[in-house]
Amino acid sequence: MCETNCDRNECAARALVRGVRIRAIAATDSAWGIGKDGALLARLPGDLRYFREKTLGGILVMGRRTLESLPGGRPLDGRKTIVLTHNADFVAEGAIAAHSLSELAEAIGRLRAEDGGDRPDVFIAGGAVVYEELLPYTDSCLITRMDGNFGADAFFPNLDEDEGFSLTWEDAPIEENGVPYRFTEYSRRGGGEK
Ligand SMILES: NC(=O)c1ccc[n+]([C@@H]2O[C@H](COP(=O)([O-])OP(=O)(O)OC[C@H]3O[C@@H](n4cnc5c(N)ncnc54)[C@H](OP(=O)(O)O)[C@@H]3O)[C@@H](O)[C@H]2O)c1
Repeated sequence: MCETNCDRNECAARALVRGVRIRAIAATDSAWGIGKDGALLARLPGDLRYFREKTLGGILVMGRRTLESLPGGRPLDGRKTIVLTHNADFVAEGAIAAHSLSELAEAIGRLRAEDGGDRPDVFIAGGAVVYEELLPYTDSCLITRMDGNFGADAFFPNLDEDEGFSLTWEDAPIEENGVPYRFTEYSRRGGGEK
């Protein structure tokens, strides 16, 4: 019997990702919105560059809908992609499909072991369902905060109201395509147990 009383799938996932640094990376508006009609809220070249710089060489974890929202529905280059889906027949060229949290944790372990000593970082890359589901396993969140409300229909959990996280870094504001935004990081309080 599990000492934390979690379900078996969750418990297996927790055990396998223990000791692995996991970061979420997202761009949100003032209402913590991340997307609308299956697409991003705004096109910010500086944020796309930031996302690439941060995640290059790492492992991206994303939901099936987010993968399908990428150009051509294909994984991004220079990174290993694990896509979560319940569909056992789902095939995405260049990505690994995981059908549960325990399969996800196994895939992360396998990919990190393949790289020998140089164990790649793990980034949770959305969307709303996946951010929310994996927040309990996340050590910190790289959030690009855009000023304004873009009428989103998909949201990141509101970290300003989450006692488990605090704002630990905030860059100077910049503006692109008329959208003021800044890069921030929220970290798990006190390096707490995830
Ligand atoms: N602003 C940002 O930084 C950012 C980043 C990424 C995405 N987005 C936006 O977010 C929106 C998409 O988010 P979303 O919430 O609709 O979808 P999503 O989180 O990308 O994908 C949800 C899908 O993932 C699969 N899934 C999730 N948990 C699973 C589990 N434990 N086991 C197996 N499969 C699992 C399911 O796929 P199946 O239905 O195949 O079973 C589920 O329908 C879009 O608007 C996108 O542009 C924004």
